[in-house]
Amino acid sequence: MSDSHELSRRDFIKVTTGIVGGLIGAIIGLPSVYYLIAPALREGGKEAWIPIGKFEDMQIGVPYPFSFTRVQVNGWERTASSFGGYAVRKSDDPNDLFILNSRCTHLACTVNWSAEAEAFLCPCHDAKFSIAGEVLDGPPPRALDVYEEHRVTEEGIIEIFFKES
Ligand code: FES
Repeated sequence: MSDSHELSRRDFIKVTTGIVGGLIGAIIGLPSVYYLIAPALREGGKEAWIPIGKFEDMQIGVPYPFSFTRVQVNGWERTASSFGGYAVRKSDDPNDLFILNSRCTHLACTVNWSAEAEAFLCPCHDAKFSIAGEVLDGPPPRALDVYEEHRVTEEGIIEIFFKES
């Protein structure tokens, strides 16, 4: 009688130890497994509103340069890409402006505004674009691209809607 009682007590301790051990293993192990596989499940943001500057800092008719970096997450791989452009304010109305992409439409070099030439100049193959982005000279097949959507925050910050293409 006392032997069978001892045996069942031993079995009980074994089972209990197994359950408690399993629970501890799960509590410790699951976060570690999640930590390891989470990057593979995550997708980098492809769209976002990007602040480019204060409207009050932009002068009418003077291209206002800006740049930003986007990090694309693809599994464990992170790729940083740089983008930029110029906001051209036309009046006191914060919605009355256009925003050009500074990537040359020929072979994607970065164009720079030249106050002296009153044009955007591309250093790679000497292209020239007007303040509105139209091709004035050189090999580019079309005008500079435009960031289509923008908005003004309550703090007067201009934001563009960026979409990964
Ligand atoms: S990349 Fe701009 S002119 Fe060729």
